[in-house]
This record gives sequence, structure tokens and C-alpha cells, in this order.
Amino acid sequence: MSRLIVVSNRLPLGDNPSGGLVVALEDALRSSGGVWIGFSGEVVDDPSDDLQDNPGAPFDRLSFDLTQQDHEEYYLGYSNSILWPLCHGRPNLMRILPEYLDGYRRVNARIARMMLPHLREGDRIWVQDYHLFPLAAELRKLGVTAPVGHFLHIPFPGPADCAALPNPEELFEWLSHFDLLGFQAQRDLGAFAESARQLTQVTQLSPTSFLLDDRKIHAQVFPIGIDAAAFVAEAEAAPDEDRIRTLTDAKLMIGVDRLDYSKGIPQRFRAFQILLEQDPELIEKISFLQIAPPTRGEVEAYQVIREETEHLAGRVNGQFSTLNWTPIRFIHRSVPRNVLAGLFRQAHIGLVTPLADGMNLVAKEYVAAQNPEDPGVLILSRFAGAAEQMPDALIINPHDPHDLAQAMAEAMRMPKEERRRRHATLLEEVMSHDVAWWSRTYLRALRVSDQGHESDR
Ligand code: G6P
Repeated sequence: MSRLIVVSNRLPLGDNPSGGLVVALEDALRSSGGVWIGFSGEVVDDPSDDLQDNPGAPFDRLSFDLTQQDHEEYYLGYSNSILWPLCHGRPNLMRILPEYLDGYRRVNARIARMMLPHLREGDRIWVQDYHLFPLAAELRKLGVTAPVGHFLHIPFPGPADCAALPNPEELFEWLSHFDLLGFQAQRDLGAFAESARQLTQVTQLSPTSFLLDDRKIHAQVFPIGIDAAAFVAEAEAAPDEDRIRTLTDAKLMIGVDRLDYSKGIPQRFRAFQILLEQDPELIEKISFLQIAPPTRGEVEAYQVIREETEHLAGRVNGQFSTLNWTPIRFIHRSVPRNVLAGLFRQAHIGLVTPLADGMNLVAKEYVAAQNPEDPGVLILSRFAGAAEQMPDALIINPHDPHDLAQAMAEAMRMPKEERRRRHATLLEEVMSHDVAWWSRTYLRALRVSDQGHESDR
């Protein structure tokens, strides 16, 4: 059986690592004797060029360290100060420095060199996310002919945004060395096809195959899911003492997001303010819990969003709090998964309102966690990839605080019958397209695209 080699920026570390992606790939890795390769999280002066073994998981894990300079230029720089804002439609937040591109190329070339001694005949390589766009090109330079696929977890930028890159043509050159490109949503496949058409030499051979820089590649949509059955079980088992209690019996509205400017958290707070102004009956009847763990705090745009969010939460609380009730609880820390699952189940409204998002798995977790007899309401941004699969959520435009406030009011008053009907179709989607379905479907397509290439050779 051909081994699966997974490469991602972050290696899942710790004993018995969990999380959706690990669950999705664990079986394929274990049964094929495969390996997961990624960054150890350690920034050191003089990193070894041999990948380090990390025992303790049911599959092999090999890690590398980064220097401070690599971390700044490859991770904080090109990945998170250029590609991330660009792919989330915020080119104005990009910080373009020439050394970022150099560092990004250098680290990808180094990862390819470190991988080489670990590769064997018959391996299939699956590269995850935007940190590693050049990896297939670098592997090809070293003579690797194995099938190499890529999956992009975040949105693909349209032509106007791609053109704002310091190196738009090079992006497509990198992508042309993969056999299969996987995207979260039709929106992304469309953006890829249109950007390639405007910015490079491309011929579309079929809806899912392209001749890019004279190389044939496949590109398809594979919406990622969650480990749905496990999340349902987690929510059902969540301990009662972790429930939120309020003095006023308010219904809970919950948002859980890394504190990222793409998530639309300030827009949520503004909408909530409008709701309380326009619908004072809801004062003391609804309590908004926003959990927002810190992320990428070294990047300035993240410091700015933190200040803006804290300021707004303070303002809304100052305006509306009563002696028995605080409208917004804002927690800038992470919360254990099992506690989250219980909070989702308790929450009458799940707010998932990003301005741009690859998929957004919180939307799926919220649905999986509900009690089907008396479920809550999911309010979902039309700009989350999940919106393509979840039309039975209340779909809103997160830029329009009045639209969002109106959806909050509707959710608060939605009759149980309607909540059950909407939830049943959402749950069916979440269960049938779970993360195991995602990885199986992707790996099957990678095999097919490689067979196609063999017959081309
Ligand atoms: C997004 C990206 C992932 C990334 C995660 C956390 O979901 O698609 O690749 O790992 O954010 O971000 P971080 O920078 O902390 O790895």
C-alpha cells in the first residue's frame, strides 16, 4: 500500500493528539505506515537539518525547528502578513517586505530537502494550506515524481486581490507542480480559475482540469467537515458544572473564534448593540458569550483587532449592563473542547459571522452539539465556505449590522418547530460530510489524478 505523507506548517504535537484534521488523517496514516511532517513550534538559533522523530502518536511524526529569522519571514511574514490578509479579501492589511518572500521560498526549499531522505518509491504526498505553496515545485527540483496534492483551508483570492501580491505569476508557477488542488468551496475553485485566466497562461480542459504553465493539474472542491459523531458524543457528555449561569435566566448566544480580523467580531458587537437599542424587550433576556483565543499576536493587525474588540465590548457593556446582567462576556483565552461542546449545546444562538472564511468548522460543531429535540439557531455569514452547504442556517451579511441584528431577534423568537426543521437538515449535512468523508474523497481524487498523469507520460 502506498504510504501517505502529510505536510503541514503545524505538526499536531503532544501525546494522542486530537482535532479534526488529525482524526481525518489518522486512519490513512496508520494503515499505510505514513508520516506527518511539520514545524515543531520551536524557534532556535541553529536548527538541525534532520527531521526529528516525535513518538507518542499512533502514526509517525517528524518535525523541524525554525530560526527566528525564518519564523519572522516565512510564518509571520509572507504566510500571515501577505497571504492570509490577501486570501481573506484584506489586501490593505498586507505588509510586503522583500525578505518575506525570500524567507518563504527559503523555508519551503529547506523543508523539501529535509523530506527527501524520508521519501520512498510509491509514496503519496498531501500538503496542507497556504504556508507551503512552493513545496511541490521544490520537491520536483530534487527529482521527486510522487503524486503531490495540496489542500487550501482558506479562501482562494480573486484576480483583483491576486494582482496585489508581490509575485502573482510565481504563485501560479508554484501551484502548477501539484497534481491536485483541493478547495473548500465552489467560490474558491471559481476564483482560482478566473485568477489563473487573468494572470498566467492557463487552458481549462474540463471543469476540474487545467493546463497551467504547460502542466496538467486537477482542481476540485472538497468541503472539510468535523469528526461529527465524536462531537455529538462530547456535547452529550459535557459536565453540567461547566454550564453558564446567569442571574436573569437569559438565553445564551455564543461565538467562538481565534481573535482574527477575518472573523467579524467587532461587527457582531455592533449588531448586538443595535439589537438592544431597537428591541429593549431583549435586555436581560440574552447574554452574548464571545470566546476568542489569542493568535499571531506579533503581527500588528492582530494587536489592532484586539484593541478594537475590547473597546467595543466595554462600550456595549457600559451602555446596557444592569445590576444583574452583563450583555457581553468576552474571554480572550482558549477553552477546552469538551467545555466548548457543552456551551454550544446550551446556547440558543450560535454566531458564525466571518467577513471571509475558508469553511468555518465552528458552524458544524455548533450544529452537531445541539439537542435535536430543542435545538438552537445557527446564524451564519454568507462569506463562510460553510454557507454553500448550510442554507438552512439564518444566512446573513456580516457587513450589515442591521441584517445581523434582525437575525438575532428572529433567532430569539423562532418557534421550536422551525428550529427543529432547520436543525434536522443541517445535522444531516454535517453527519454525512464529516472529516472522514473529506479525507477519503480527497485521497481518492489524488489517486485518480495520478493515474491520469501516468497515462499522459
Ligand atoms: C487557520 C489555518 C491553519 C492554521 C490555523 C491556526 O485555520 O488555515 O493552517 O493552523 O488557522 O493558525 P496558526 O497561525 O496559529 O497556526
